[in-house]
Amino acid sequence: MYGPFVRIGPNELSVIDVVAVGQILGHGGLEKGRYYETGRHSSTPPNIVSLNGEAHAAKRRVWNRAMTSVRDYEPLIGERTSQLVSCLRNGGIVDLAHWFDLFAFDVMGDLAFGGTFEMLRDGRDVDGLGKRVQTFMKQVGRTIQEFNDLAQGLAIHRIKNGAVGAKDLWYHLADEAGLEKRKPSLEDSAADAVVAVIAASDTTALALSSVVWFLLSAPQYYRRVQQEIDQVIVHGDDPLDTKKHQELHFLSACINEALRLHPPLPSKGGSRQILFNQHGRSVAGRFIPPGTSVWTPPYSLHRNPEYFSCPDQFLPDRWLPGSKFEKHEVSAFIPFSLGPANCVGQKFAEVRAVHDGFDSEAWGLTLEDHFIVTRGPLLVNLVPRHRSTQG
Ligand code: HEM
Repeated sequence: MYGPFVRIGPNELSVIDVVAVGQILGHGGLEKGRYYETGRHSSTPPNIVSLNGEAHAAKRRVWNRAMTSVRDYEPLIGERTSQLVSCLRNGGIVDLAHWFDLFAFDVMGDLAFGGTFEMLRDGRDVDGLGKRVQTFMKQVGRTIQEFNDLAQGLAIHRIKNGAVGAKDLWYHLADEAGLEKRKPSLEDSAADAVVAVIAASDTTALALSSVVWFLLSAPQYYRRVQQEIDQVIVHGDDPLDTKKHQELHFLSACINEALRLHPPLPSKGGSRQILFNQHGRSVAGRFIPPGTSVWTPPYSLHRNPEYFSCPDQFLPDRWLPGSKFEKHEVSAFIPFSLGPANCVGQKFAEVRAVHDGFDSEAWGLTLEDHFIVTRGPLLVNLVPRHRSTQG
């Protein structure tokens, strides 16, 4: 309606042009902007998300190392997935968004903090951590620093006590293997705790809820996912075998489509800036003067009719090879951002789940954008499959 470049405030632009997005976020693009300085007290060292340039690249190197060991974490994820399924096995009406939150927090606790939370075991948001994340995301006054302190406390406890079992995230971030020329200080590595808590848990929980919501709102796709799973994972196979998951092409298409329509970071991930002391830049043929902040909101980019046919509809087939959709611009799909500061946990974030029976369209309206999206209850009537007519 307004075109791909929109002025959204004094010295602020929102851009949903795919060429511009690459120039802004990609290698050699713009630096992270003012937004990244909020949410942190000056006494706390900057974390990976707020750093730029060489300091960012140095942190990113250890995060990359941690995330390439993703296979090491598969047993942990598998155990938590089985635990989630047991929690839901009795069926009945449950709030799946709540259970996905607990699941994601427990996985993050195992990955990063030595398995501290046990929210699935207790069936509740232990210590109100989920609530505190939501308040933090809304950037409410002193809760910002309180949450930073809480997350750092978790990391410092883990660093002092060592990993439980597997080489976890802080094994890499605190360089316990001694691979870096200069070992990071306790404070420097603990600064990333707030990123670990939010990036690894809330995003994943929301993506799970969205996939389930879209599937249950469109029974024809739900049935196709179920049939595909039945064909790929046959009697005697381990349903948690990730090699098998790679054969679930239609489910992957549904996950992509849910991330397209409900990117967990819909607007703010990716704000960049040309500093006042820098030269202006030409972006997709337009001059951007110094001092300008530039947003590249995935939500609007993903729904730009220039790049996706029927952009507001859940049509997972568009992601299948040989699909006949007129417009399907994969480079306009950036749920994990792109460039040197894209999501380092992307591989880790792939999760799959299937459930039964749903009758509400209202859940989509409960989503609110606070950097990451907050959401309302997702009430689903679960029916264990051995009791259902579909066998
Ligand atoms: C569906 C799940 C996920 C989505 C959609 C997602 C999305 C994103 C996006 C859009 C960014 C860029 C943010 C920005 O530019 O401000 C980002 C950064 C990041 N994500 Fe994720 N994320 C997910 C899961 C994860 C997981 C599971 C982890 C860790 C295990 C993780 C760790 C990170 C980190 C550390 C960064 C900062 C990277 C950097 O600045 O170099 N994310 N994520």
